Amino acid sequence: MAEDLQIATGSKQEQYEALLPQIEALLMGEPDLVANLANVAAALKEQFKWWWVGFYLVKDGELVLGPFQGPVACTRIRKGSGVCGTSWQKAQTLIVPDVEQFPGHIACSSLSKSEIVVPLIKDGAVWGVLDVDSEFPDFFDTTDQRFLEQIAGLLH
Ligand code: SME
Repeated sequence: MAEDLQIATGSKQEQYEALLPQIEALLMGEPDLVANLANVAAALKEQFKWWWVGFYLVKDGELVLGPFQGPVACTRIRKGSGVCGTSWQKAQTLIVPDVEQFPGHIACSSLSKSEIVVPLIKDGAVWGVLDVDSEFPDFFDTTDQRFLEQIAGLLH
């Protein structure tokens, strides 16, 4: 496909609905994981202009920073630590409306106010997480969860 993204307007749901087939097209026929994670992070950043969006990948029992868009971030997160490490441990999506209220939240950036983390799961095992941070409080909801889980399901 052409490597330029059509940026959609409208409701959040409409924006995700326009983005999803474009992400599928970006991934189609490309087996390289890093290339695909990098393009998904870029597509999400371009569409939604979030503060930080990217991936942490499970390596040797830790989450290690993967492809992302946004300011520099912490490189390693232990299982059960912070929002990402907890999402990994529980193998479930976490929506955190106020990161200050999340026990053990890892503040990579003091500007980050709310967050959603979606685990990447294959054969029942978490192999990474998709982490999105916003500079606005209470920014993510079940619409983000639904579509980001769909996008996570495209990755492997
Ligand atoms: N806030 C995350 C750490 C990762 S960064 O925000 C990019 C957490 O508590 O897991």
